[in-house]
Amino acid sequence: MVTFHVEHEDGTRHPIEAPDDMGLSLMEVLKASDYPVLATCGGMALCATCHVEVLDGKDGLGDASDLELDQIDNLPNPTPTSRLACQVRISQELEGAVFKLRGESN
Ligand code: FES
Repeated sequence: MVTFHVEHEDGTRHPIEAPDDMGLSLMEVLKASDYPVLATCGGMALCATCHVEVLDGKDGLGDASDLELDQIDNLPNPTPTSRLACQVRISQELEGAVFKLRGESN
């Protein structure tokens, strides 16, 4: 298992514990944890509604693909540490990471 955090609008951080051996994406775990991630494209790096800002732990995430970077470039609110949660695999490297949801929600 790995534990990372989601920072809410009011600055509070909530831990999420997730299995690191099931090949899950961060988007899938956020949805399963009842965060309002639309994920309209189902994790294909096409809709960018799973946009997250990485507040801490960026180095453990690996590099974004060109497709992911293109989608982030097209966002109205990109940040220097933006990622698409569907392209981030849950692994031990995420231990202690902190994310802020920035995607469109319903
Ligand atoms: S779920 Fe659509 S880009 Fe991540």
